[in-house]
Amino acid sequence: MPTYVCFSLADRFSADQKHRIAEKITAAHSEEMNAPRYLVQVMFQSLPAEECFIGGQLAPTGQIWITGDVRAGRTSEQKQKLMDRIVKAVAQIADCPLDNLWIYLNELPPENMVEFGHVLPVPGRENEWLNGLPSALRERLAGLERELPAGDA
Ligand code: LAC
Repeated sequence: MPTYVCFSLADRFSADQKHRIAEKITAAHSEEMNAPRYLVQVMFQSLPAEECFIGGQLAPTGQIWITGDVRAGRTSEQKQKLMDRIVKAVAQIADCPLDNLWIYLNELPPENMVEFGHVLPVPGRENEWLNGLPSALRERLAGLERELPAGDA
């Protein structure tokens, strides 16, 4: 983890916007939470407009909800900075006002999370965890550490 899911109304984002948002979330999480990029996943889920409500009324067409399942163990300051970065970056890329943006960070004990087939380490122990993985998997993860220019993914 973390796994970020961006929920929006159908056809809200172009492929290029999705790629740019994924990069911004990956960079923000990696830098603010001190996590390797290979542990950051970003997915998009579009929902039929007639199935989304806020306060019992249809949600605005620009609405975006982001959930992030992250490892517990970070400070409040880290989480605030992370969410602030994500909100601002997504609002800019999506060209929407900040009041269209929701974020829910869900903290999970690392021992409740498996990625690449292995239970995750507590924050700060990623290198030890990486060194204990089979070499083919380590090479794959090294490849995921590199940021690709938009369009090359
Ligand atoms: C994180 C992921 C790895 O929070 O859960 O950094």
